[in-house]
Amino acid sequence: MAPGLFTAAAAVLAAVASLAAYVALNSPVDSVPSPPPPPTPPPNNLLQRLEKLGEGALDAPEDVYVDAAAGGALYTATRDGWLQRMHPSNGSWERWRFVGGTGLLGIAPSADGTMLVCDANKGLLRVGEEGVTLLASEVDGSPIKFADAAIEASDGVIYFSDASSRFGFDRWYYDFFESRANGRLLRYDPSTGLTSVVLDHLYFANGVALPRDEAFVVVCESTRFRCMKVWLKGEKAGQTETFVDNLPGCPDNIRLGSDGHFWIALIQTRSPWLDLITPSSLAKRVVATFPAFLEWSKSTMKGAMVAHVSEDGKIIRVLDDSQGKVINFATSVNEFNGDIFLGSLATNFVGKLSLAEVTQEQVTVSSS
Ligand SMILES: *[C@@H]1O[C@H](CO)[C@@H](O)[C@H](O)[C@H]1NC(C)=O
Repeated sequence: MAPGLFTAAAAVLAAVASLAAYVALNSPVDSVPSPPPPPTPPPNNLLQRLEKLGEGALDAPEDVYVDAAAGGALYTATRDGWLQRMHPSNGSWERWRFVGGTGLLGIAPSADGTMLVCDANKGLLRVGEEGVTLLASEVDGSPIKFADAAIEASDGVIYFSDASSRFGFDRWYYDFFESRANGRLLRYDPSTGLTSVVLDHLYFANGVALPRDEAFVVVCESTRFRCMKVWLKGEKAGQTETFVDNLPGCPDNIRLGSDGHFWIALIQTRSPWLDLITPSSLAKRVVATFPAFLEWSKSTMKGAMVAHVSEDGKIIRVLDDSQGKVINFATSVNEFNGDIFLGSLATNFVGKLSLAEVTQEQVTVSSS
């Protein structure tokens, strides 16, 4: 080899070796390859027809809850630490209760008229007229780092998720890149005040829901494109099964609809760039090491999608905004009175779409 070429080759090798050493020492994630994303149905862009509620007044309303008993009053939690409410009679928004912080995620009603709130940074909260009570911030001596979604059963027991025991809400993307089973489903018993683990080793434990008969509890695993169920009643009580898998996006919040079936928001975490790197643990470790590179990678994610899933775990229909023209990164979907309401971490509004505008032919997903 000519001396000049030799020098150049040595310089390249030295640069690669120092980059490798830098990544090995500094990468915040201990990645394993992400599983291949399931195929997505052809786009229908029906979510582009939605109406924007509270536009400008709602900063990243992650979860939405519609109170049927109060004629459809709409609740959401925003990044400014408020629980906000829309009156169905006149559409006006009110700052209803102040909780504080930037990590308010899942909200769920409690039978006593208070609201259960997952504060990713603090844990499970109860918010009522008298103020804010911390119900759970640790389990078996380990901190709850990422309280995400909750549901109260008719016996008062609260099921809720801790998305990741390694990374908090401000670093959620690290957990996506790591693609390990760092999450868990928890259970808070109000009669004893004790919190226990229902299911451990979940892949980004996210939305939690109960069917009408409360025979099981569902918990979504965002980075595995599936939701699991744990039987609570009957001869299978205590057993875990897949509820739905091969979802065409990462399941976030899940809620029971008035028809007894479920609605699941599927966050869209794909792009040609991300599809290229996520199968490689090394590529993810490199990208995660450089914050600007990571932010740019996140910015390539586009689109929103929601799925209507039957009580026995079959996908009935999927609605999307494939390029995110009107809504991106929908994190929750609730059906009430023939309308669906969408929350998102990437909007300043809650989306509303009348299902009467959506014909079944446009959205049918062949189930095999
Ligand atoms: C909207 O309705 C609610 C409850 O009915 C009422 O308290 C509120 O003042 C109304 N707001 C406006 C702007 O009319």
